[in-house]
Amino acid sequence: MALFSKKETNEVPQFETLPTHLGIIMDGNGRWAKKRGLPRSAGHKAGANVFRTISDECAALGIKYVTFYAFSTENWKRPKEEVDALMALFKDYLLEAKADMVKAGNNKIKFIGEREGISQELLKLMDEAEEETSSHTGTTVYLAVNYGGRQEIASAVNALIKEGKTEINENDISQKLYTYPECDLIIRPSGEQRLSNFLLWQAAYSEFWYSDVLWPDFSKKDLYRALKDFENRNRRFGA
Ligand code: FPP
Repeated sequence: MALFSKKETNEVPQFETLPTHLGIIMDGNGRWAKKRGLPRSAGHKAGANVFRTISDECAALGIKYVTFYAFSTENWKRPKEEVDALMALFKDYLLEAKADMVKAGNNKIKFIGEREGISQELLKLMDEAEEETSSHTGTTVYLAVNYGGRQEIASAVNALIKEGKTEINENDISQKLYTYPECDLIIRPSGEQRLSNFLLWQAAYSEFWYSDVLWPDFSKKDLYRALKDFENRNRRFGA
């Protein structure tokens, strides 16, 4: 098929090279809502629907690991109303997933980030979703909730100290990260061009792809564009 044909199609395009681990910073929900005179929570709701579409598409494409940045350790500073709306969206998604595990197909759901601060109710649903999909062998969808890249590295180091290590090398840290240790491509919509404490360790040799599209408007075609661009990157890993 023509990759960017105007006609909507359900056909999944083929790529010569796919990122093994794709990271996505879902940004621009607030601006999307503001442009429409809506509360920020409406932007997050629209963003959650795009998350569903894009995570399904990553699975259809056969991407092995995809990490979505859903809530950072810094996002607690936002107004309570907005934080509550986001937590409610995570809960809705998990209840949906619980009711229809068949829909998860062969995909694995995993949550990354600190558990402290998250309600017991949500933690229970998160644990259940992880458990129910733990034997699946398809795409691993990591949802970064209460996540910070620095916190992830500190937590890896602490785990190694607890094991009695007195000298720590890069491989030791890689083994203790929440996600697959390398991230090949990071997509950030909404025009911002920064990492914002996302996958700091894993991003050492990541390719970056930016777009002005706000996350709630992000489409499968935008994903294909990013992947097409990634195919043509010349990755040298410092060599
Ligand atoms: C950043 O955009 C986005 C967030 C802090 C939240 C992202 C969360 C979602 C898209 C919902 C995910 C839901 C599920 C079920 C996984 P922003 O609000 O900072 O946007 P702005 O920069 O335009 O203000």
